[in-house]
Amino acid sequence: LIWHKIYLMKKIILVGFMSSGKTSLARILSIKKNIIHMDTDLEIEKRFNLKIGEIFDKYGESFFRKQESIILKEIENSNLNMIISTGGGTPIHSLNMQKLNKIGKTIYLESSFEFLYKNLKRDKGSRPLDEMFNKKELNKIYNERIKIYSSAHLKINCRKKSLSDISEEISNFISF
Ligand code: S3P
Repeated sequence: LIWHKIYLMKKIILVGFMSSGKTSLARILSIKKNIIHMDTDLEIEKRFNLKIGEIFDKYGESFFRKQESIILKEIENSNLNMIISTGGGTPIHSLNMQKLNKIGKTIYLESSFEFLYKNLKRDKGSRPLDEMFNKKELNKIYNERIKIYSSAHLKINCRKKSLSDISEEISNFISF
């Protein structure tokens, strides 16, 4: 019975700061490993038929955080194997990092702030936090958050690596 349970609990969860490549990598890995991909942001957008920015504007951030928690609960209750990409703030709120560590194997995609900031500026306009805070403030948020991300089961150093290199590296750790 215990082994059965462990088998059913196979979930891989990607965490990390905004624009660290969580969604793209989860997509690549889901194809490589032929498993379901669930992206918490995309799932919330689908449910409300609104972009994340519009949800923040219309209902506020705490409403959005509540939706993240609801989705985590659903993932927890699901028996499906899946690869999950979270929002950059998902692990930070409601003690979610601890929950994620119980739900599955968590992987922190680690990159430098400068690199992430450059990526953020490249897709300007798609993230509310990027609009709310300046570089200095985002750097502070980054420093606070990395402490929480670091409690993931596995940390992948993504610096100076291509998405395909990183997906290969993660792939070696996953056996479904
Ligand atoms: C957020 C990150 C975003 C999205 C929302 C809030 C955050 O996800 O969930 O804009 O608090 O860091 P990405 O990490 O995919 O950008």
